[in-house]
Amino acid sequence: MTTAAIEVSGLHKSFGGQSVLDGIDLRVQAGTVFALLGPNGAGKTTLINILSTLVLPDAGTASVGGHDVVADSEGVKRSISLTGQSAAVDEVLTGEENLRMMARLSGYTAPAAKQRARELLEQFDLVEASRKRVKTYSGGMRRRLDLAISLVATPPVIFLDEPTTGLDARSRQTLWAMILDLAAQGITIFLTTQYLDEADLLADRIAVIDRGVVVAEGTAAELKARVGGEVVELRDANDEIVRELPTDGSVHGLRQAIDLLDASGLAGSSVSIRKPSMDDVFLALTARTTTSSAAPRTAADAAQNTNLEVTR
Ligand SMILES: Nc1ncnc2c1ncn2[C@@H]1O[C@H](COP(=O)(O)OP(=O)(O)O)[C@@H](O)[C@H]1O
Ligand SMILES: [Mg+2]
Repeated sequence: MTTAAIEVSGLHKSFGGQSVLDGIDLRVQAGTVFALLGPNGAGKTTLINILSTLVLPDAGTASVGGHDVVADSEGVKRSISLTGQSAAVDEVLTGEENLRMMARLSGYTAPAAKQRARELLEQFDLVEASRKRVKTYSGGMRRRLDLAISLVATPPVIFLDEPTTGLDARSRQTLWAMILDLAAQGITIFLTTQYLDEADLLADRIAVIDRGVVVAEGTAAELKARVGGEVVELRDANDEIVRELPTDGSVHGLRQAIDLLDASGLAGSSVSIRKPSMDDVFLALTARTTTSSAAPRTAADAAQNTNLEVTR
């Protein structure tokens, strides 16, 4: 029996009569990276807020590091680090002062705090900005400082709410490497993301959440297996995809797909076969479009509702 760092059972949360979490069950093994993957508005931040004791659940239970989030919120707070809020940053102080202050608050001696601050400033490409007041920082610099602050101490469980949103490619890769490094040290990482490739790359296990419900849970490989087998792609002369057909991966299934493409009369010049991507997984599990899930989710829903109204 392995130790659970996070356990969630039958968790419900509503805001003003609107159900946001509708019975969530999760178990995160200690020392692993767990990704909560879902579109904007799925309930990811709400779940993180409950797990980090910022929001109370309406029903169900959750524990972090063996501490109940309601009955022992102090125990939870001692076990975790949370990022994504920026609340910890003092605008009047410099980046370096912020980091040293947080390190001191986390129990570092003054020289160790200075050392830790220097390390993080380097890792997050903030050395040049280190002596400038935070209120002069750009959005990207703030984001990196916020992440650095959340990683000053390395508690047993770290929550990262959409950690790479708004980061440039270089900072994103730095952060990915840091996450994997922390996990290698035995720290449990619970992160949320809208990026399928990010969950695929980082997480030992992934839960796909949609409208407050876990629609699938497993390793990236397991999720892909649930969706089916190889996808047949038809491309045109410019190597642009004309049509994609999911198959069950069997010889018969592949032949059917190719026959279908042949009979379709579509102007394709080459056929290739690939493994299903996380995008395919998400599409299959939530049965709707995923790309740029930021705003369109509600817009798409609205559009759909409108169509229903019209056709009725
Ligand atoms: N404090 C709140 N008051 C009212 N509604 C909220 C509050 N927090 C979140 N919601 C609503 O709950 C839903 C899920 O939000 P959230 O957990 O932030 O999703 P995600 O992080 O997956 O984008 C959204 O519809 C959002 O508007
Ligand atoms: Mg969120």
